[in-house]
Amino acid sequence: MNVPIKTPDEIEKMRVAGRQAASVFEMIIPHVTAGISTGEIDRLCHDYIVNELGSTPAPLNYHGFPKATCTSINHVVCHGIPDAAKTLKKGDIMNLDITVKTADGYHGDSSMMFVIGETIQGERLSRVTQECLYKSMAAVKPGVRLSDLARIIQHHAEAHDYSVVRDFCGHGIGAGFHEEPQVLHYDGYAPDADLTLAAGMCFTIEPMINVGSHKTKVLRDGWTAVTKDRSLTAQWEHTLLVTDTGVEVLTERRDEDLSFLTR
Ligand code: MF3
Ligand code: CO
Ligand code: CO
Repeated sequence: MNVPIKTPDEIEKMRVAGRQAASVFEMIIPHVTAGISTGEIDRLCHDYIVNELGSTPAPLNYHGFPKATCTSINHVVCHGIPDAAKTLKKGDIMNLDITVKTADGYHGDSSMMFVIGETIQGERLSRVTQECLYKSMAAVKPGVRLSDLARIIQHHAEAHDYSVVRDFCGHGIGAGFHEEPQVLHYDGYAPDADLTLAAGMCFTIEPMINVGSHKTKVLRDGWTAVTKDRSLTAQWEHTLLVTDTGVEVLTERRDEDLSFLTR
């Protein structure tokens, strides 16, 4: 299908957008501890994106989404709505998903897990999910197919007796928040499931991995996606650029060790 190849000028704008998204995490990480509400996390991110970065939080009003970020706790798979009455407590795990749209119209989309206090199961799930992202990222280069990435993710998750969410996927990204292709995280059918990667493509990988069944349902607020069996779930996401030799992680954070990538 029509998967755009970014021009050098667009790639430069994607780098700015990706760096901005990463910088929001660098700002918020020290604040995410037991006792803070997801509404307060959202407010801090919103104000930083608007006032410090001069950009826009892309989720706000996106198809009617009411907040600037997504905060998804425990059995919430994705699209959790920040809430001033929802306070993080020890033993919780939370995904924070941030998408910045720069003033010149390009998107940087990333999410990461926070483990609050101690939870052995939560830590293991979060770690394995990050490994799913990292192992698939490490395979990105021209000539590789999206289905190769999907198989890497599914294999690693299932080797730990976890399941891969099928109802949500990664996506192309650029001037559009969600562009072609759909990036599946399991070996399944999509229009571009067999797309061969080429330098200049930008897309996200954002595996959602469940302790129980892969099935999800959306709550009556129309957004909050949960595991159908209420089992624990985790997600990590980066925005990537395919380069001539491999991958550039546009949303890389300063705290992150990506030395396993040969770039
Ligand atoms: N950032 C999410 C993604 O990774 C999308 C959030 S859309 C929203 O694609 F409307 F729920 F915010
Ligand atoms: Co995304
Ligand atoms: Co996202």
